Amino acid sequence: MRPSHFYGSGSASPSYFQLKKFDLSSMARHLVIGILAIVSLFSSLVDSQDVPLPVRVSPSNKHYGPDGPWQAVTVKLGDPEQRVDLYPGGIFESAVLTTDLCDNDSPQPCGSGGMYDPSKSKTLDDTSIKIKFEADSTSGAMSQPGKAQPVMEQLAFDDRNHVVANLSMKLITKLETIFPDGSSYPIQVGQLCLGAPQDNQTFDSVNASLIPNYLQDKRFVPSSSYGLHVGSAALNVPLSLWLGGYDSSRTLGSVSSQPLPASSLFTIDLLDIGVGVDHGGSPFPYTERHGILAEGNSSISTSVPVTMNPGAPYMYLPNSTCEAIAKDLPVTYNAKYGLYFWNTQDPEYAKIITSPTYLSLTFRGSADNLTIKVPFQLLNLTLEAPLVSQSTSYFPCQPPNNSTAYSLGRAFLQAAFIGVNWDKGNGNWFLAQAPGPNTALTPVQKPITTSTIDGSTANWADTWKTVWTPLPDPNAPFSSGPQAKNITAGQSSRPTSSGSTLSGGGIAGVVIAAVSVILLFFAVGYFVRRRKHKRSGGGGQLQLAWWSPTEKKEDPEEPLPLYQRDVTSSGSKGPRTLVEADSGTPTQHNEAGGVQELGGNERYEVHESGR
Ligand SMILES: *[C@@H]1O[C@H](CO)[C@@H](O)[C@H](O)[C@H]1NC(C)=O
Ligand SMILES: *[C@@H]1O[C@H](CO)[C@@H](O)[C@H](O)[C@H]1NC(C)=O
Ligand SMILES: *[C@@H]1O[C@H](CO)[C@@H](O)[C@H](O)[C@H]1NC(C)=O
Ligand SMILES: *[C@@H]1O[C@H](CO)[C@@H](O)[C@H](O)[C@H]1NC(C)=O
Ligand SMILES: *[C@@H]1O[C@H](CO)[C@@H](O)[C@H](O)[C@H]1NC(C)=O
Ligand SMILES: *[C@@H]1O[C@H](CO)[C@@H](O)[C@H](O)[C@H]1NC(C)=O
Repeated sequence: MRPSHFYGSGSASPSYFQLKKFDLSSMARHLVIGILAIVSLFSSLVDSQDVPLPVRVSPSNKHYGPDGPWQAVTVKLGDPEQRVDLYPGGIFESAVLTTDLCDNDSPQPCGSGGMYDPSKSKTLDDTSIKIKFEADSTSGAMSQPGKAQPVMEQLAFDDRNHVVANLSMKLITKLETIFPDGSSYPIQVGQLCLGAPQDNQTFDSVNASLIPNYLQDKRFVPSSSYGLHVGSAALNVPLSLWLGGYDSSRTLGSVSSQPLPASSLFTIDLLDIGVGVDHGGSPFPYTERHGILAEGNSSISTSVPVTMNPGAPYMYLPNSTCEAIAKDLPVTYNAKYGLYFWNTQDPEYAKIITSPTYLSLTFRGSADNLTIKVPFQLLNLTLEAPLVSQSTSYFPCQPPNNSTAYSLGRAFLQAAFIGVNWDKGNGNWFLAQAPGPNTALTPVQKPITTSTIDGSTANWADTWKTVWTPLPDPNAPFSSGPQAKNITAGQSSRPTSSGSTLSGGGIAGVVIAAVSVILLFFAVGYFVRRRKHKRSGGGGQLQLAWWSPTEKKEDPEEPLPLYQRDVTSSGSKGPRTLVEADSGTPTQHNEAGGVQELGGNERYEVHESGR
């Protein structure tokens, strides 16, 4: 687990070369070189004792909503220590909920991640910084008016009890998530921000600490950096946050490494979105579909920039893209919440969630295109009280609020690793595929010291096999189910376009081939019948002899496996248009609409300057 002595050995080389300048006799020189080599080896070993290790930040024991379940991290604030849970991610000052946030009238669970009491801490400095934040302004996907005061306080981690002095943070005394209809609900969890391109945060003449830089400055960790996988609370994948390093078992395959730009941190070009099935049968009328990002939107040409945002819950994409993803899913758009509700009564729902289906997002990676697969199992999230009166499964896609600031929140980051090496603003940030639930709990801790980091060679599908139930494969040998096919945008399962994928020549070829097969079929049948006729001399049943393989398919006494029949029927019926198939069906979710006062399009982000 300890990093190699590689870090310490660097100091030995210069002195070795200095020695060569001395004009000593050969023997003496070799003797000195030998001694020096021993000394340098020794010093490198001693040095290695001092090489700091990455610090692990404890994941929270509790899960949070009301649109999760989400995990957080646990830290200790002030003296005496007050434990609070915070969502990791974002830049500059951390946001901490205070005991003023909730009162007896607040809808529960208000501030359930823990509320900090400023009056009980000896180490709080709420006087040095004179600037006041009136309210968090509106940015991109979120709006959250509130009251916040910038302060400095000490923060400690469980791991080796490292302390960050003078941490830049803001005390939240009022903060609500506001819906377009004006209704609101109080938030549960603050945010632990993880550095910035600057070393620390300057308020007039006061320097407040930022966590990664502070820890590196004190030589507590190898670099000003972090590695984060938010994991999955529902599927028991623990959140992984390391400072100065990362858990390399959370990075599968090659890790894309982008230089930090002056602005637009953690922003990358999204090239396309697809839907796929890893193995087994498909609950869709195809096994792969591409071109979803730009589908139905001619103003999207090759890509859209998207920002990784672990402080927000959903995937904030163009409305046209959300609609294109949703059109093949058993979901109903709920305008009040601005979210798609899964039709949990629809048999397709359980098939999609539990089988090896995924949404794939392809990014312009540093070396190559990087595709991150998000199993639909992770996109079965839950709305809870006080948002709805009854737990409701939802699909987390919605357009950003009046903007094109597209971003990917925790829903996506359940399946992706992000990290950064700040390196005084000249470093790189990292994006990689994260694993599923079948991953060893023992972390493979590695320091972040350069502009690249390694991925693990684990197979992505293997990390999901424990929770996937593949559907029977209609393409398997001896199966008579329809052939699943690959299709691209606009073709989806629409009957109008599904036949138009062939050119005129292609259609002619298919017709000729089909006619030939039918002729051959009749010819073979004719000979078989003649031979059987000769042998038995019998009548009726012989006429059917050569039809027998097909006859089985039509025999009502021998039904096909359930999934094959469903694929057949949905294939012949054409697309599941959301309006037709779903709006007429009463769903249990409509009952959730009873809580009118809390409804609306949720925008949930604690930390404005996290963008
Ligand atoms: C915290 O900041 C104050 C002034 O803002 C400074 O005097 C003090 O030395 C700082 N403490 C540490 C541990 O950096
Ligand atoms: C604050 O930090 C910067 C370096 O990040 C340094 O140049 C500056 O002198 C510091 N100011 C104070 C008041 O410590
Ligand atoms: C500000 O950053 C500089 C450079 O890393 C560091 O030396 C100094 O201790 C930091 N100041 C605070 C208050 O964190
Ligand atoms: C189409 O994409 C553009 C560019 O991102 C966006 O401004 C517009 O809102 C999108 N239209 C729809 C219907 O989503
Ligand atoms: C997205 O598009 C659908 C269909 O055009 C529309 O019903 C819905 O209101 C739109 N959503 C938003 C947030 O604009
Ligand atoms: C979807 O999530 C809910 C809440 O975690 C869970 O109860 C349900 O079983 C999930 N659905 C499927 C099909 O796994």
